[in-house]
Formats: sequence, structure tokens, C-alpha cells
Amino acid sequence: MDQEKATKKMNIPFLDLKRQYETIATEVDHALKAVIAKTAFAGGPFVASFEEHFAKYCETDYAIGCNSGTSALHLAMLALGIGAGDEVILPANTFVATAWGVSYVNATPVFVDCDDYWNIDPAAIEAKITDKTKAIVGVHLYGQPFDVDAVSAIAKKHNLFLLEDAAQAHGARYKGTRVGGFGEMACFSFYPGKNLGAYGEGGGISTNNAAYRDHIFSLRNHGSQQRYYHDEVGFNMRMDGFQGAILEAKLKHLDAWNDRRRAVAKAYSEGITNAAVALPKLQSFAESVFHLYVVTVADKNDFIEYLKAEGISTGQHYPVPCHLQKAYADLNYQRGDFPKSEFLADHCVSLPIFAELTTEEVSYIVAKINQYQPKV
Ligand SMILES: Cc1ncc(COP(=O)(O)O)c(C=O)c1O
Repeated sequence: MDQEKATKKMNIPFLDLKRQYETIATEVDHALKAVIAKTAFAGGPFVASFEEHFAKYCETDYAIGCNSGTSALHLAMLALGIGAGDEVILPANTFVATAWGVSYVNATPVFVDCDDYWNIDPAAIEAKITDKTKAIVGVHLYGQPFDVDAVSAIAKKHNLFLLEDAAQAHGARYKGTRVGGFGEMACFSFYPGKNLGAYGEGGGISTNNAAYRDHIFSLRNHGSQQRYYHDEVGFNMRMDGFQGAILEAKLKHLDAWNDRRRAVAKAYSEGITNAAVALPKLQSFAESVFHLYVVTVADKNDFIEYLKAEGISTGQHYPVPCHLQKAYADLNYQRGDFPKSEFLADHCVSLPIFAELTTEEVSYIVAKINQYQPKV
């Protein structure tokens, strides 16, 4: 029976948010109506309530909601007082928004290569530290925590700030502790496709530091603590009331969704035996939440086309590493500077992974991948 199902053609999306909505429609609809009833559209009590619950979830003292993960990174840089002439070290293998926050405050992103787990390589950091370096941003990429102790020890030794980019890692654990409280601040994205996704744009910051929280509360709200009194030039980066209410409703399901993602990842890791497909390596200290499941193959376009013909959609995270993006051409990096990040960009394929993916779909994907025959 399973065998029969595995051979019948299926159409499997990379991600299907509609399926998730169908499992929580009553709660989401209720949340939306509650916001309308209170007309609490911009910031307000639903955002405050989500902040309280999200801080508890992250095991931190505070959380601050804002309008995107990119804004969260920008606000964190501002709160740390980083600015023109400063340098910030971060991985070349990440979504480019990790670097935007640095650029927005006129500081310089300084990239380093990734390790075999595709996260920032702690061994590559010290060579990049200069007297201008102010901070290190570690990214818990694909949902797998980076080596926090190793990076944190370097930050302490050189008196640098440590920031976590946890945009892909809501709920992940490093040595048993949730990500979000290891550095000065951690930045999250609630972009719809994230493990905890809004129904629009959204972002947040977790921290154990009340001074950062107070400053960011003000910065996100026109530099104001009291209406129409502005202490500094601020921004409108508040979170929408709808997003706060929806995120709070969805937060209750996050651990179960992450468990299901882990089960899908386990099925891939145990089921895919095709030597042409290299599976992601997992650190023993990390409890990943598998925002993405990224494999590498010699000819990624051939593999992607093959899977597409079999009805399986895939992604690429990311086809161009940050140091080779046109936006950063002025920093004068060259191909060859970061071999691991470049290898990954050239060979990466992300398989479908989300909580509502069925067992039959996962078996089908595994079977089709095992039947793949590379051209060369
Ligand atoms: C690692 C990383 N950092 C930052 C961001 C930016 O988040 P947002 O899209 O919410 O601005 C994302 C999301 O795409 C991300 O994956």
C-alpha cells in the first residue's frame, strides 16, 4: 500500500500556509475579530500581550515586537550605539538582511566563512577583529544554533557585543537552553513562512537588558515615550495589532509544529540513502527547529528540475552569498574568499519542510530522491 502511494505522482509545494491556517482557523479568526472590536491596530494591548508571552517562550526577561526582522536588526544596531566607522562581523552565508542592519547605521559588515554545519565558523572570527570591531552577529541558520559558547568566548575576550540573528530559529535550543538570551539581544523575523509566522510582516527582539528594551520601545515609536514628545529621531517600526494577536494565538502551537518539522527532518536523514545527495550535518549541542532542510548535490539545477518533473517544489538558501552580492560590491570581496559559503551557494537545494507535510508526501519525496540519477 505504502509502496503504491509512493509511486503515484504527487504535487508537493515547498510550503503551504493555507494548510496551517485550516488547522487553526477558529483561533485566528477569533484573534482578528478581537483586534477589530478593540480597534487596536497599531501597537497596543495585543502586541504587549504577545511580547510578554514571547519573552517567556524565549526564556528571556523582555521581548519587543516590531514590523520586520530587518527592522529588529536595525533597531538592535541602534540600541548598541553602533555607527559610522564601526565594523561588525557576521557570516557570509545568511539571508542578506543580517547585514542590512549594519549598513543602515553606516557601519561596515565584515564577513566570515561558515563551517561544515553551514553556520558562522568560530575559528574564522579572530583574524577579522580590528580596533574598529564592535560586535559579532551569529545566525542560527536553517534553525540550527551556531556554536554559541565558542563565539561568545571570542566576543568576551575582545570586549565585543554579541547579537543572535534568530530569524529562522524560534524555539531552537543550544545545550538545552532556548536561543534568544545568549547575547545582548536576539532578533527574530515573523515573516509568514517562518516557523512562527505572522499574516503579514513582523519581527521582534528578545533581551535580558531593560535599558535596551526601553530604548527600542522608544526608537520603534518615533523616538517617543510620551505622545508628541520626541527624545531623538525615531522610526515607525511598530508591530500591527493584528500580527500581535495572530502571533500570540500561533505561539501556543509552535512547539508541536517544531516537533513535527524535526520528525520530517529525521525521516529525510534516515530515509535518503542516495550517495549523490549530501545531507545536512547536525551539531550534537544543537536542537534544531529545521526552518529549512538543505542538502547539497553536484548539479543543483539538474536535481531541482528532476524533482520538479516529479511534482516536488524546492528552494535555494541562498544562491549568492552576502560577500558576492552586488549591493556589497564596494567592499571588494572576491570569489574564492569564502570557499564553504560559495560551495553551498553553488550546490544547495532546500527540500519541502513544514508541519503539515503528510507522511505520504515525505515518503514520496524520499523515494524520488533515492531514485535520482545524476547526469555525471
Ligand atoms: C537569517 C535572517 N535574518 C533576517 C531576516 C529578515 O527578516 P524579515 O524578512 O522579517 O525582514 C530573515 C528573513 O527573511 C532571515 O532569514
